[in-house]
Amino acid sequence: MLFRLAHLSDIHLGPLPAIKRRELLSKRITGYANWRLNRKGAMHDGFLDALVAHMLAAKPDHIAVTGDLVNLALREEMRLARAWLETLGDADSVSAVPGNHDTYVPGALKDILELWRPFMSGDDAADGNPFPYLRRRGPMALIGTNSGRATMPFMATGSFRSQQAYDTARLLDKTRDEGLFRIVMIHHPPFENATAWSKRLIGSSRFRMMIAEHGAELVLHGHTHIDSVEAIDGPDGLVPIVGVPSASVAPRDQRPESDTAKRRPGARYNLFAINGAPGGWRCQMEEYGFRDGDKEVSLIAERTLQSPP
Ligand SMILES: [Fe+2]
Repeated sequence: MLFRLAHLSDIHLGPLPAIKRRELLSKRITGYANWRLNRKGAMHDGFLDALVAHMLAAKPDHIAVTGDLVNLALREEMRLARAWLETLGDADSVSAVPGNHDTYVPGALKDILELWRPFMSGDDAADGNPFPYLRRRGPMALIGTNSGRATMPFMATGSFRSQQAYDTARLLDKTRDEGLFRIVMIHHPPFENATAWSKRLIGSSRFRMMIAEHGAELVLHGHTHIDSVEAIDGPDGLVPIVGVPSASVAPRDQRPESDTAKRRPGARYNLFAINGAPGGWRCQMEEYGFRDGDKEVSLIAERTLQSPP
């Protein structure tokens, strides 16, 4: 059975709703200034909408969203993001995890769980903190983790602490025994030297130790706004780690001069085609999005991440 999984990330949904002055009394002030300076001109809903339309036309079996749906974790943004999630499909076929922008200030996680929970909960539908959650879909085990947490101004770090590592390891063991293709979703990239120090994943080596011992077939992340394919050690060989660029950024040549993030490509999503069985998985990846000069979505690259021996 062929299973097709679409991955997108870092939506940073705009436009920013009107902000009450009270809501700016926090880390949000720096975030708001930053957003006004850097993001407003570079992010266009038109690209996001066209990208999502292209992705939905491909009729993936499931969609993974690895965080940063919003900018400042305002309640109004979160409502907008809930409505946007619903445009992707029903909550059973869309799995999301939070990013640092979704958990921008203390208390944001509570709002997220209130508004986004159907898209961020396991098959067991437990109450309380759902992370890590497990969803079984066809031959896949989708494991959603939360690396987002409120930080000091100018920081965009995430964390992966020992309790979450312990719980995730248990899910990895269980689903390996069930013969499933295990996909771990995390907002922050968990490979070495993945980001600037102020944006890093605290507990990144803990994450890698967990994978080295318990394994996984694929790790998906966002946060960098850059396309990347890395690999870390698993118990039976390398485990691919795939980062997808932001789903809402204009191509480079259509961004304002003031845009400083020149390395970041235009909006993209990845589509994975997975079939096979333990010891003989095949996983192929197609990258779709806007190249410089593009007005429409096209296939940018194809690669094989795993193939049977
Ligand atoms: Fe992020």
